Amino acid sequence: MFSESAIKKIGRSETILILTGAGISAESGVPTFRGENGLWKKYKPEELATPDAFRNDPVLVWEWYRYRRDIIRSVEPNPGHLALAAMEETVPNLVLVTQNVDGLHARSGSKRILEVHGNIMRSRCSQCARTLPADEETWRNGVPVCECGGMMRPDVVWFGESLPRQVLEEAFTAAEECDVCLSIGTSALVQPAASIPWHAVQAGAYVLEINPESTPLTPHIQEFVKGKAGIVLPELLRQVREQQQKNPGR
Ligand code: OAD
Repeated sequence: MFSESAIKKIGRSETILILTGAGISAESGVPTFRGENGLWKKYKPEELATPDAFRNDPVLVWEWYRYRRDIIRSVEPNPGHLALAAMEETVPNLVLVTQNVDGLHARSGSKRILEVHGNIMRSRCSQCARTLPADEETWRNGVPVCECGGMMRPDVVWFGESLPRQVLEEAFTAAEECDVCLSIGTSALVQPAASIPWHAVQAGAYVLEINPESTPLTPHIQEFVKGKAGIVLPELLRQVREQQQKNPGR
């Protein structure tokens, strides 16, 4: 499944950057965005996850986010998430950058997480920018409202919006400094997150991708492992631990 050099590189690395996308949560039962199950009421994410869509029909946009929140509340982290959380113990510095808004990495025990697209279980006031966890929201006529009177929106990044600057800077710095980069379960299409592994390629890192399908990144990296994250990642963790036990020291 993996080359010997990949296992050695990961086992000896000082800094690993991991980028995850919707694919890592697919085996938990969260639909991906571009897969066949990704559509809701025939809308594409690009039609609902925008500031314009929210201005035009906030109730519809919130209906979609409530539907997605309900899915996320009902699912559990899968062996892929758990393997990444356990991988923090095998490397001095592991930075986990996720495009997912589902919070499943935190629920599985990962500690250093950069959520570049926000978190669906939080809302933010469109007037005063106050943020609230989902369970503290006050709803009126199909939308949560802030105590300032403003309308709350999901605290996620929409198409056409900038990503949180500091979080993104940390992700790009990690991409430039890492020895190894893993790109897992992402179509590698949505910018700027998709360019994080490209930065790692350019900075000379060993880049490994895990996905059942190839992506635009695939031809440019050292190793592509075709498969599901929930199967591939526990095996990767097992082999890295075995290698570290055989060859202690970096
Ligand atoms: P996509 O839905 O574009 O891609 C999911 C990827 O996961 C695809 O490449 C699948 O082949 C792969 N995949 C499916 N099942 C898998 C499994 N079991 N294990 C590993 N990989 C699997 O999702 P993202 O790349 O995350 O942005 O999409 C990026 C962004 O576009 C999202 O964060 C969201 C979306 O619109 C915003 O909402 C701003």
